[in-house]
Amino acid sequence: MSEDLHEAVLPEDTAGAVDREVAEFIRRGRDLHESGRFDKAIEEFELALALAGDNREAVLGHNRAVRRHVPRWHWEMLHDKERADLYDRAIRQVVRPDRLVLDIGTGTGLLSMMAARAGAREVIACEGQPAVAAVAEQIIHAAGHHRAITVVPKRSTAMRVPEDMPARADILITETIDCALLGEGILGTIAHAREHLLKEDALILPSAGRVFAQLVESDSLFRKNHVGDLYGFDLSEFNRLASLEYFDSRLRNHRWRPLSEPMEIFAFDFYRDGPEERRAEFVVSPTAEGRCHAIVFWFELDLVPGIGLTNSPGNPESHWKQAVQCLPDPLQVTPGEPLLLEARHDEASLHFTAVGMREATS
Ligand SMILES: C[S@@+](CC[C@H](N)C(=O)[O-])C[C@H]1O[C@@H](n2cnc3c(N)ncnc32)[C@H](O)[C@@H]1O
Repeated sequence: MSEDLHEAVLPEDTAGAVDREVAEFIRRGRDLHESGRFDKAIEEFELALALAGDNREAVLGHNRAVRRHVPRWHWEMLHDKERADLYDRAIRQVVRPDRLVLDIGTGTGLLSMMAARAGAREVIACEGQPAVAAVAEQIIHAAGHHRAITVVPKRSTAMRVPEDMPARADILITETIDCALLGEGILGTIAHAREHLLKEDALILPSAGRVFAQLVESDSLFRKNHVGDLYGFDLSEFNRLASLEYFDSRLRNHRWRPLSEPMEIFAFDFYRDGPEERRAEFVVSPTAEGRCHAIVFWFELDLVPGIGLTNSPGNPESHWKQAVQCLPDPLQVTPGEPLLLEARHDEASLHFTAVGMREATS
């Protein structure tokens, strides 16, 4: 019996009961959306859609919740050919049929499918956002890799062996990296995996990363986080709401001038380092006179020896923009007058403080 016919012969009170159920799922979905629980809202709208696939309120409600829950950068990231090609090359170098692969943060399932294509017979693909995990499962199935890949709809930090995977993995693959390297929590994620999900001699891809920073003069970057007098009004009070931490922006879209050489700020060894906070001080020698508006930073990532990725300003094609931390006020800098810069990172963030000017030493 076709679904249309089935609907047509439903007794009136059954149809009414279905309508009421749909309305209740939609109401619950809206309430959950209002309270910011977008993942739960998605589930309610999906229940409504299972009963009434063309219900416009359910379709729109579902899409609104999905848009809030699933970051838009997925698409730009997936089109970043350099990122995909380099991961693919690195994965082909390390995968062997007899190695159990764990892909943390599988998204669409892309890196897991690359591993399966490279010959892995068993891949565990975990994804912390259930709506994304459900789609990954479909993509993997349609690609014919479902026998090799098992999707686990969980954050890796909630996974255990043997409940979620048959044994500790031989290879970890992960791309849980934001423009400042740490923002998606890669340090804690890998440290947890080393302790609970990986063999002692497991291969970790990426193996290491470094963060570099540079002082820049750029009025237009500063304006992304500051206002003053505009249209005859003093709006500067609004700066109390400005970002104290980094945001992402593409340097090439701004007029900017370097005021220092790039400096290596932190280096991470993913075989060893954990999420513990670290602090470092740098004496920066300005290379030009100017007004320092911001500290711009980026990463270099070693996937395997010889294959690396960067979102440095010199690689404008990368979908990762640069990380930008605007100073509270522009700071005049001059060659010969070194600046003391403090950098701190915690599990998922990185922050700079321009501690002050230092007398030029020798
Ligand atoms: C930057 S995307 C990369 C997606 C995919 N690996 C790719 O390369 O196309 C990171 C994904 O990892 C997920 N994620 C981040 N940390 C995770 C964790 N600890 N466990 C499971 N999923 C995680 C996010 O929800 C997101 O979908």
